Amino acid sequence: EKDIIVLGIETSCDETAAAVIKNGRDILSNVVASQIESHKRFGGVVPEIASRHHVEQITLVIEEALAKAEIAIEDVDAIAVTEGPGLVGALLIGVNAAKALAFAHGIPLVGVHHIAGHIYANRLVTEMKFPLLSLVVSGGHTELVYMQEHGSFEVIGETRDDAAGEAYDKVARTLSLPYPGGPHIDRMAHEGEATIDLPRAWLEPDSYDFSFSGLKSAVINTIHNAKQRGETIEPVNLAASFQSSVVDVLVTKTMRAAEEYDVKQVLLAGGVAANKGLRARLEQAFQEKPDIELVIPPLSLCTDNAAMIAAAGTIAFQKGKRSDLALNANPGLDL
Ligand code: KG4
Ligand code: ZN
Repeated sequence: EKDIIVLGIETSCDETAAAVIKNGRDILSNVVASQIESHKRFGGVVPEIASRHHVEQITLVIEEALAKAEIAIEDVDAIAVTEGPGLVGALLIGVNAAKALAFAHGIPLVGVHHIAGHIYANRLVTEMKFPLLSLVVSGGHTELVYMQEHGSFEVIGETRDDAAGEAYDKVARTLSLPYPGGPHIDRMAHEGEATIDLPRAWLEPDSYDFSFSGLKSAVINTIHNAKQRGETIEPVNLAASFQSSVVDVLVTKTMRAAEEYDVKQVLLAGGVAANKGLRARLEQAFQEKPDIELVIPPLSLCTDNAAMIAAAGTIAFQKGKRSDLALNANPGLDL
């Protein structure tokens, strides 16, 4: 049988990325141009700066991905591009580049949901076994997604306010740590102890939704109150307490959903999957559930990349999905 070669393009936030994959699972190339340095001094992603970087980088990144894969554009069977959600001005650059290539070379175009991409990063490291549950935790998302089969996504829980990564970044900012703050808090958490009592938002007993804004406010209030009383708080203990609260809720709800939906696999996805506390707690929890396989992809596939978009795009392409040349960026796209 003929191999299926898919070029993936991702520009939804602050990484300009292109990748070539074969048969939905073999990475031939995976190029990511990060803009973190440009956004750092602003303490977060500045949308217009992101768009300008994407415009400068996109063609070079695509060329590099094709060259590294040793694939000529004529040999690409489909172009998969993130159509949403994300920053509209950033998404437009990738969507337009994909459309131009598809039009010029007569290649089928497939629009991909960014979260589907994060989940399908797992297919680049293992075979997906259905039904499965995916915990997607990133700077923009916190979702529990149930999948009955390839290409079928049911969001059974999501954040009602801040995303997990967003809460990390905001707490980091109040501790004057550089952007993105997640990795710094994670490191500090391992140097401290969870001695400070912080809330855990369990919400309604049967809910798989999340909420992190109350926790974030509690951290800010704790710092503020301590200052007023002239007390000192060890930042490492605050980081450890915050992390313990986030991880506690994420792991408990994931475990409960995995059991209720009787899944074969639990897939971790998104940038916060890099969190050492979360990985350790999940691994520990699933050791007691040997009939459910826990999959945690390597870090480079958890953060934004285009190989995951190509992986999700390959499945959509095989299922017959085609986007026409009117494809647009959709910042609020539903999964
Ligand atoms: O998936 P991603 O690269 O971009 C989005 O689609 O949002 O995720 C980035 C997020 C940031 O909020 C960052 O602070 C967080 O992932 N992050 C972490 C860690 N590494 C990255 N959060 C907690 N602990 C970490 N070790
Ligand atoms: Zn992402």
